[in-house]
Amino acid sequence: MTVQKAVEKAVEITKKHEYARVVSHYDADGITSAGIICNALIRRGIQFHTTIVSNLEQSFIQGLNDELIIFCDMGTAQLDLLLKHLKEKDVIIIDHHTPPLIPSTASNELISSLPSSFVHINPCLSTSKNEEEMVSEVCAAGLSYLVARCLSDDEKGNIDLAGLAVAGALGDKIGMDRGINKMILDEAIKARVISAKKGLKLGDGKIRDLILFSTDPYIPLMGKVEWVDAFLKKVDIEGDTRLSNLEEEEEKRLTAALLSLSGESKAGAGIREDDLVGTTYILNSEVVKNSIDFMRMVDACGRFGKAGIGIGLCLREKKMIEEATSLYMKFQSKLVSELNRIESAGGNEIKELPHIFYFYVHESGITGVLAGILAEYLYTGKPVIVLNKKAGLGAETKISARCNKKLLSARDGINLAKAMERASKEVEGFGGGHPVAAGASIPVGSEDKFIATLDRIIGEQRNRLR
Ligand code: C5P
Repeated sequence: MTVQKAVEKAVEITKKHEYARVVSHYDADGITSAGIICNALIRRGIQFHTTIVSNLEQSFIQGLNDELIIFCDMGTAQLDLLLKHLKEKDVIIIDHHTPPLIPSTASNELISSLPSSFVHINPCLSTSKNEEEMVSEVCAAGLSYLVARCLSDDEKGNIDLAGLAVAGALGDKIGMDRGINKMILDEAIKARVISAKKGLKLGDGKIRDLILFSTDPYIPLMGKVEWVDAFLKKVDIEGDTRLSNLEEEEEKRLTAALLSLSGESKAGAGIREDDLVGTTYILNSEVVKNSIDFMRMVDACGRFGKAGIGIGLCLREKKMIEEATSLYMKFQSKLVSELNRIESAGGNEIKELPHIFYFYVHESGITGVLAGILAEYLYTGKPVIVLNKKAGLGAETKISARCNKKLLSARDGINLAKAMERASKEVEGFGGGHPVAAGASIPVGSEDKFIATLDRIIGEQRNRLR
């Protein structure tokens, strides 16, 4: 089935119901996806109950007793469980994750022979060659936006929800310049829902704070109060000024000075111009206008188990801004403290094998984001694996793997989703995700075997292309 046909079928099914259960993933893409669907349901007069989870457990699926269940940003990897427990229900899966290599109980045939009460919107499963290019790099929020567009009967057509799709794409680091994302962006800019602004991609706020907490893009001054103050004094910029209030000439001066920091950095931890400068989308219909800030706040809400605040932001509730901002600051403080710890250990914390870097994180809840920053800015030559070891009997170690897009575009053959799935299976864990960003959970005690296996598998992936 094509994505377009699946979207139409999902809408046809939804329209038959007065109530829906929405289940979504806890990251920015998941929360904005759910936000888009909730807004679209409200506007059609369909009531809903939304639950945000970090993964889809069998016990949770078994407990779902609603007639229509919409899964966002998840469900592809659990298709066999959904079919087993929810075959009497109407089920819509809006997901962009790669289907598992080795489904646990069912086979890949499941995907092509779904019951008529199931719709699976996932570009990885599109049967149309023409569609492939269009939908290859779309996030769940973009797909949810397509559903919302189709679900609307009025002339406004839910185009104002495009800002949430942009925030979702930013969260998953998916560009807006190609395929379906470009189409979403173009129509939203035309409708003045979104505007594009060129300049520093740091979000908005007081310049001093933006630099102090700038982990992505990674600014080598991050976390160092005296350095930041000295830097701002040298460039003659008042740290309390909001970035959006800087004169054009001041922003240029600041940009040049920030870019020159890469030359001074010893670990090669530099800022590339395209990481720091470019287009920021302004979300004219949302309560937080800067798309970077919106994405970061929503993401932090999910990570601290306060996804309801994030959904509130997506539903344009201004009173959520304060708490969402403080959650974001709390998250950044953890991240900055861990990055400073790595820096002060002079690289001793990071272990290197022939095909990967790996590292045990101390702070909890930042594993994936930290892996992304290390892979993108600091340890760029190989995939970075971050392990978060939990104490206690029967505890699981959570692992995140990231590699920067340059590694992938070097056509190195690396596919972290496949590598993590295979390596975790070998130690009785489970994993998957995307080629550049994947995760796994494994039993405590199996970390060494897992790491060695993963290194071997990634080595095999690279060799295959040589
Ligand atoms: O947890 P983390 O942010 O590292 O996950 C990266 C990606 O891997 C996400 O898309 C997530 O859904 C996927 N993942 C998975 N199986 C796991 C953990 C994560 O498929 N056990």
